[in-house]
Amino acid sequence: MSHSPSLPDRPTLELDPEMSESERLDALREHYLEVSQVHEELTEQLDAARDRQSELRSEVNDLQEENEALKTSSLYLATVEELTDDQVLLKQHGNNQEVLTEVSPRLYDRLEAGDRVAINDSFAIQTMLDAETDARAQAMEVSAEPDVAYDDIGGLESQIQEVREAVEDPLTNPEKFETVGVEPPTGVLLYGPPGTGKTMLAKAVANQTDATFIKMAGSELVQKFIGEGARLVRDLFELAAEREPAIIFIDEIDAIASKRTESKTSGDAEVQRTMMQLLSEMDGFDQRGDVSIIAATNRFDMLDRAILRPGRFDRLIEVPDPDAEGREKILEIHTAEMSLHDDVDLEAIAETTEGFSGAELESLATEAGMYAIRDGRTDIQAGDFEDAQEKVSTEEAAGTPIAFY
Ligand SMILES: Nc1ncnc2c1ncn2[C@@H]1O[C@H](COP(=O)(O)OP(=O)(O)OP(=O)(O)O)[C@@H](O)[C@H]1O
Ligand SMILES: [Mg+2]
Repeated sequence: MSHSPSLPDRPTLELDPEMSESERLDALREHYLEVSQVHEELTEQLDAARDRQSELRSEVNDLQEENEALKTSSLYLATVEELTDDQVLLKQHGNNQEVLTEVSPRLYDRLEAGDRVAINDSFAIQTMLDAETDARAQAMEVSAEPDVAYDDIGGLESQIQEVREAVEDPLTNPEKFETVGVEPPTGVLLYGPPGTGKTMLAKAVANQTDATFIKMAGSELVQKFIGEGARLVRDLFELAAEREPAIIFIDEIDAIASKRTESKTSGDAEVQRTMMQLLSEMDGFDQRGDVSIIAATNRFDMLDRAILRPGRFDRLIEVPDPDAEGREKILEIHTAEMSLHDDVDLEAIAETTEGFSGAELESLATEAGMYAIRDGRTDIQAGDFEDAQEKVSTEEAAGTPIAFY
């Protein structure tokens, strides 16, 4: 180390045999003085070194402590409830404990009620969470009123009726169920091939009631927010309770509730944890208040039967591809705003589009419109639908999506 001082020279003693007794005595005395001086100097140096050592030792301790604190200190999430003159009222997530905390003026200026922040054990705000970190806000789509009405859905009369009974009535007329003494179903599962109107149906119910509609996509839960799935499910139910009456809609539920596979990859474990959290939230749902759950899937075959047990998704509603009558209604809905030539016969088109889903019929109508535009016309003719149908069926044949349900 650069701090080590140079050692004093060692005094030497030279005794000449020729010296007289008194000369020797003087030499010895002088040597003694020299040695004492060196001794004193060395003692001083030793003391200084000791001081330095204890200084360094305490520095090491401090660093170690700091290091330990950095490694173990956990941050908690809280929401800013209110800003008072110079303090901030926070509500911790999880335990809902409210605390007042002081913040620096710089941070104070940036905070707003509703912001999410990370706090430490002593409730000091460490960071503000930006929208990106706020997985909860991202994963869940909350809307007071989705823009789909029952009238926008073609050919699903009995399904609409069933969903209304299972979800809408318990929310709008809870006393009806109480009087009769019937428990409304816990969860409703809509299943059927892609593009048949399952998502529309869930949105339409929410529109019809005053309920807050909270949508979460199963695939996002496990793909986009890796490791967060279980927590998000918990948040989802918490949020619904806060906003009741509410409808929780879990789209593509197969992504988090598929049968246990043989492989034991970590991805599977994550999916399992997310599903277990969902099951436990549903099981603890008696005191849920005005919250309904709807889920949808086009992979019914993949579902873990555990989620279908009583008290969970115990009302199954199949949403199949539309029949001829349904196809005609769907075509009517999607051509309502189009100018159709007199020669367009929607009933006839419905007859020849066996196997088309609602989504495919919608794109058929759009395609027909494109042919008319390409032709420089302002109305859509029967021939445009024929061309469109040909195009859509060849596309179908090229890459037929397999319907699993
Ligand atoms: N029954 C229907 N009536 C009217 N339009 C429909 C119907 N079914 C589907 N559509 C049209 O297709 C689009 C997709 O429908 P939706 O998202 O409800 O399908 P889905 O059953 O949820 O499909 P997926 O299983 O792929 O999620 C809708 O936005 C709508 O334009
Ligand atoms: Mg859907």
